[in-house]
Amino acid sequence: MIRRIDALLMIALAVICLLSGAARAQQSPLNPQRLPTEKNTLIVYLSRTGNTRSIAEMIQQKVGGRLVALELQTPYPEDYHATVQQVVRENETGYLPPLKTKIDNMEQYGFVFVGFPTWAMQLPPPIKSFLHQYDLKGKTVIPFNTNAGYGPGSSFQTVRVLCPQSKVLEGFSTRGGVERDGQLLAIKDARADEARKEVESWLRTIGMLE
Ligand SMILES: Cc1cc2nc3c(=O)[nH]c(=O)nc-3n(C[C@H](O)[C@H](O)[C@H](O)COP(=O)(O)O)c2cc1C
Repeated sequence: MIRRIDALLMIALAVICLLSGAARAQQSPLNPQRLPTEKNTLIVYLSRTGNTRSIAEMIQQKVGGRLVALELQTPYPEDYHATVQQVVRENETGYLPPLKTKIDNMEQYGFVFVGFPTWAMQLPPPIKSFLHQYDLKGKTVIPFNTNAGYGPGSSFQTVRVLCPQSKVLEGFSTRGGVERDGQLLAIKDARADEARKEVESWLRTIGMLE
């Protein structure tokens, strides 16, 4: 009788172990099928002075994937203040500037990193165009941002609103340049080394890196 109880206990324990192992494997961000790879990852970014591009390249070095810079059919003016004025007008009217960049085979990507600078404390209009134009339903969307020190503003929130059927992960934001003061590419040299560490730590936190 005691032997039978022992045997039953052993079986019960084995089942519990198996079940908890399976649950862990499903939840684990390290599950290979849940990680971005060279083939299933797209890194789209908007960058005027190179800071967001630097971060996009760091992400690509860490996780792989296809890097695409968004270009407009009609580029913004070179002058910073004229650009700010145009962006403010576009935000007020909801204008979506047409993109020159076309992305084929969007269906192959399960992970879409979307990078942008803060513009007028909002998501830049070209990124709004991108999110309106492409259906990211069912995909994991991962926003990242550079700014002049005032943070991402409402940009991450807008990404969530424009991707209602995507899984939007916690965004990354770091200080880039201050074009207003003539400081263009800031994420280089020692600052790039620092930013690379920030990027790596964020990718681990959101489960995108082993
Ligand atoms: C039109 C425009 C508006 C901007 N508005 C803001 C802002 O509201 N807050 C902020 O912190 N930085 C602002 N910036 C600065 C950029 O976010 C910052 O320089 C960023 O790092 C630039 O990224 P990029 O080099 O990839 O273009 C603005 C820049 C431009 C061109």
